[in-house]
Amino acid sequence: MSGSVGFVPTMGALHEGHLSLLQESVRQNDGTVLSIYVNATQFNDPNDLAKYPSTLEADLAAAKDAGVDVVLLPDYSQMYADDFRFQVSEHEFSNDLCGSDRPGHFTGVLTVVMKLLNMVRPDRAYFGLKDFQQYTLIKDMCATFFIPTQIVGCDIVRETDGLAMSSRNLLLSPQARQLAGRFNGLLGQAETDGEAAADLAQAGFDVAYVKTVGGRRCAAVVVGESDQAVRLIDNVAVSVTSPAKVLQEIAS
Ligand code: PAF
Repeated sequence: MSGSVGFVPTMGALHEGHLSLLQESVRQNDGTVLSIYVNATQFNDPNDLAKYPSTLEADLAAAKDAGVDVVLLPDYSQMYADDFRFQVSEHEFSNDLCGSDRPGHFTGVLTVVMKLLNMVRPDRAYFGLKDFQQYTLIKDMCATFFIPTQIVGCDIVRETDGLAMSSRNLLLSPQARQLAGRFNGLLGQAETDGEAAADLAQAGFDVAYVKTVGGRRCAAVVVGESDQAVRLIDNVAVSVTSPAKVLQEIAS
């Protein structure tokens, strides 16, 4: 492939959010590489990994339509010839938010992203801002290790009721899907993180965290019962205007 290369790493089950990353890459680069690899090392819960949706045939068709030039479909032995002996880890922000109840998650993410970036050597790599913590950690990792790829954060793509697009949405029962549609609204309309957490719990979400970091109110919730339970994340921009918000930002 000659000219500039854009790269969109994914775990498949492509949705409109992924397609927007591919469109941006196709627009900004001479060639676009897509990877589809369900990275076991970033799943702290084996059931979560086992349930992760796979729609490979549809993904390949969507990639072709989107103008992708190369699709990488590595397997574990290719990605982890070292059997995960070498790892990339971060010891501050990765322990907060999703890291607090998903131990090891970001070590798996950073390790596989570092490997993929070294394999593809793209000029630009595209990540959705739904995973704001992931985007921030990857950007910091690239700066820290002098990786020359530009990390591009792309806006969250939402369903009409505000639910952020996610491969995990495919796992929602009709009832859970209905509740999930209230996640974004309740997160954004509350005055404080505490109020948002209380409103979400009141609506029926099992709240993992709500916390404002870097001007974004980030949250993870679980919807659905036991083996049907699905974890969702989202974030909204918040302006620190009210005294309550100022105090909360200072305290956190
Ligand atoms: O966001 C994802 O889908 C994954 O965390 C990524 C970046 C492809 C690494 O496996």
